[in-house]
Amino acid sequence: MKAATVLSFASSALASTIYLAGDSTMANGGGGSGTNGWGQYVSPYTTWSISNQAIAGRSARSFTRDGRFTTIADEVKSGDWVVIEFGHNDGGSLTPTDNGRTDCSGTGSEICYSVYDGVNETILTFPAYLENAANTFTALGAKVLISSQTPDNPWETGSFVYEPSRFVGYAQIAAEAAGVAYVDHGAYVASIFESLGSDVVNSYYPIDHTHTSTAGALVVAQAFFKAVVCGGIALESALNTTSFPGECL
Ligand SMILES: *[C@@H]1O[C@H](CO)[C@@H](O)[C@H](O)[C@H]1NC(C)=O
Ligand SMILES: *[C@@H]1O[C@H](CO)[C@@H](O)[C@H](O)[C@H]1NC(C)=O
Repeated sequence: MKAATVLSFASSALASTIYLAGDSTMANGGGGSGTNGWGQYVSPYTTWSISNQAIAGRSARSFTRDGRFTTIADEVKSGDWVVIEFGHNDGGSLTPTDNGRTDCSGTGSEICYSVYDGVNETILTFPAYLENAANTFTALGAKVLISSQTPDNPWETGSFVYEPSRFVGYAQIAAEAAGVAYVDHGAYVASIFESLGSDVVNSYYPIDHTHTSTAGALVVAQAFFKAVVCGGIALESALNTTSFPGECL
């Protein structure tokens, strides 16, 4: 008991770190060709260190199989935060061709088998991968925030349409199962993008309907913090401003 108290004082006195786990929409360099991920635009709003571990093309499954959650677990310290946001690469079907990213369907403890890269892989559901990762980090004394995926360009048809993918709901299920914080980042981005209008938002998607420009990534990062502040998530204490555009949802 005493040792734990001393430890938590020690770690709060040291600089803490926010780890980011996600795909190209969060990663440094985004989807290439001048796009960028929102994880690159977090640091202006916090004095904490940022460790952006997001990497393009990854799903909850492939990030896990690559050992990238393990890398974070090896580094994370008590009092740090880990933000987990996936969904863009998690869909699809395991048959006839497994792309190595598709999760097992379902929201619970369902298991699928698939031979990928010569290995008969045990594949979990999207919520199970996130719940396992969250449990690993909380056991190490870190705090976890599961965040819903960013929207594809909601103005691409000419009128505003935001239909959250099933992984948005799955992210919330994972957070509830693990007992960790959740923000609906996707809904906050969509709300701000609706008010910005089609010309501005279309300009944020220079190569396709998924990957944002630098200007777009900055707004996506601000939308994340708006969700954190509106949600009363304790990560707010790491911020040096609580003023972000948009409305609370
Ligand atoms: C927050 O802190 C960072 C790091 O010191 C600084 O670069 C940034 O300007 C600050 N932002 C605000 C809004 O105070
Ligand atoms: C993969 O492993 C599972 C569980 O042991 C087994 O049921 C399945 O037949 C295996 N698949 C292949 C292709 O070996």
